Amino acid sequence: MYRSALIENIAPLRRFPVKIFMLLLSVWASLAFSATRTPVYSSKGLVASISPLASEVGAEVLRKGGTAADAAVAVAFALSVTWPSAGNIGGGGFALVHPITGPDSFIDYRETAPAAAGPDFYLDEKGELKGDESKIGYRAAGIPGTVAGLVLLHKKWGKLPWASLVEPARKLAAEGFIVDAGLSESLTRSAAHLSAYPETAKIFLNKGKAWQRGDRLVQKDLATTLTAIQKRGADGFYKGQVANLLVQDMKKKQGVLSHEDLLNFKAVEREPLHKKWKEFEIVTAPPPSSGGTILLEILGMMQGDKLEAMGSGSAEYLHLLIECTKKAFADRSVWFGDPAFVQNPIAKLLDPAYLAKRRAEIGDKAAHDISPGELLGEKPDTTHFTVRDSRGMVISNTYTLNGSYGSGVVVKGTGFILNNEMDDFTSKLGESNMFGLQQGKRNQIAPGKRPLSSMSPTFVYQGKDIVLALGAPGGPTIINSVTQTIINRLIFRMDIQGAADAPRFHHQWAPDKIVWEPFGITHDTRKILEAKGHIFADEPRNFGDIEALAYDAENQRWTGASDSRNGGAVVPE
Ligand code: GLY
Repeated sequence: MYRSALIENIAPLRRFPVKIFMLLLSVWASLAFSATRTPVYSSKGLVASISPLASEVGAEVLRKGGTAADAAVAVAFALSVTWPSAGNIGGGGFALVHPITGPDSFIDYRETAPAAAGPDFYLDEKGELKGDESKIGYRAAGIPGTVAGLVLLHKKWGKLPWASLVEPARKLAAEGFIVDAGLSESLTRSAAHLSAYPETAKIFLNKGKAWQRGDRLVQKDLATTLTAIQKRGADGFYKGQVANLLVQDMKKKQGVLSHEDLLNFKAVEREPLHKKWKEFEIVTAPPPSSGGTILLEILGMMQGDKLEAMGSGSAEYLHLLIECTKKAFADRSVWFGDPAFVQNPIAKLLDPAYLAKRRAEIGDKAAHDISPGELLGEKPDTTHFTVRDSRGMVISNTYTLNGSYGSGVVVKGTGFILNNEMDDFTSKLGESNMFGLQQGKRNQIAPGKRPLSSMSPTFVYQGKDIVLALGAPGGPTIINSVTQTIINRLIFRMDIQGAADAPRFHHQWAPDKIVWEPFGITHDTRKILEAKGHIFADEPRNFGDIEALAYDAENQRWTGASDSRNGGAVVPE
């Protein structure tokens, strides 16, 4: 937390006059507002997620002797029940894995485009976008990858029986669970979206209104689908009754997802990106995520800067951070796509000479050499969880339906929501997607292709050991949430809860606006930045949800933080 870092910093200053000491104390008090709780400590394993029920499911798997991979599988299924805006079996994601032996690995279970989709899939005969087809409804869905990804994770690093890992989620769906404030608020925000399809409304709304805290939410059809997965593994989802229901309904509603698409889906194991940064090594997401490369670019441009001396929240630090972020996001808009289809120039983007050149271009004023784009309100989509077991296996997993509650479609009888991940492709060159992101040719739709992502499950090593494992939801804001939490923890030396809770800033190059959080910046700092030419969004808003584990060397314990912006929990083994 800020307090512990600041206590360390002010202790030697006690010899200074009382006035200075009081001034420092007042700074301490004014900065401490976001430190809302202490981190959770454990001498064994830990699970951090946005859902206390799902974190408890994972911790119970660890208590039964399961590996972090076992726990991750159980948490992912549990979140598909208890956090339906993003927890899913109808979407996809990435798991970064630190096994006990062997190199770190990256399981890519990102959705793929159906065989019938191509670059013009969402365009009319005049080449214009056909409404919101990439965002809402049956045609927005890519081929779901989550079940295949979890099967692979379990096959490679799991120990407990598969059925036992699906069981807690099946039970939560069949017997129901008590809706908490976080879920009730999320359902309320998305009530209009959830009412567009009757099957979805039947489950996630209570007579047309969002379920309220204290209500019991039962999901019988989802329990049936989970039972099929529990009994038959991937075949319970990609073949048989679930697949039949999905394909039949698709045909009736102008969707294109077919049996062949489902059968062809493959989760892929990739080598994660590795890069030295200051005295650390960062291991993070490779394409088809842009996230790892962009966060390494932002950090890499600041390789030689003395960030600690600038200070957290200072105008000097924020100016530099935002300028580096703009440059990296400008690269994101053109250079990335599915590595199975295009070459991603990662080595060039992370070349120290290139990064130094980009850094040297940053002057004292904000750069405005940007293209137009419309930043739409961030939806609280995607979700991240981090698990560590007592033997040292760590899983950092981000998965998603894309927008909150994805396409809004639940196919009758299946109980799960289909993603709208197709909107992460370039639907039309020059048009921005739901996150206001400008994307390029390399990310155009092709059959079997994975859309570009910003998801950034990440580890940071110091020497041979992981000292930080983290990730976040929030589309492009993910990259900035993760980057800034790394800096907060490792450079500004906040404890992990303080690092997760500290006010964050988002810029994505286009549109040319700093997204800021309520109470996240003082008036004087903002004035300094505005004088340099920075433009702030009209209203502040909170974004992201860091779910992180970090090693506390002083106490020789692992600690965890679930972002105080939301209602998640870290549960020890
Ligand atoms: N669907 C958000 C992302 O993958 O970046």
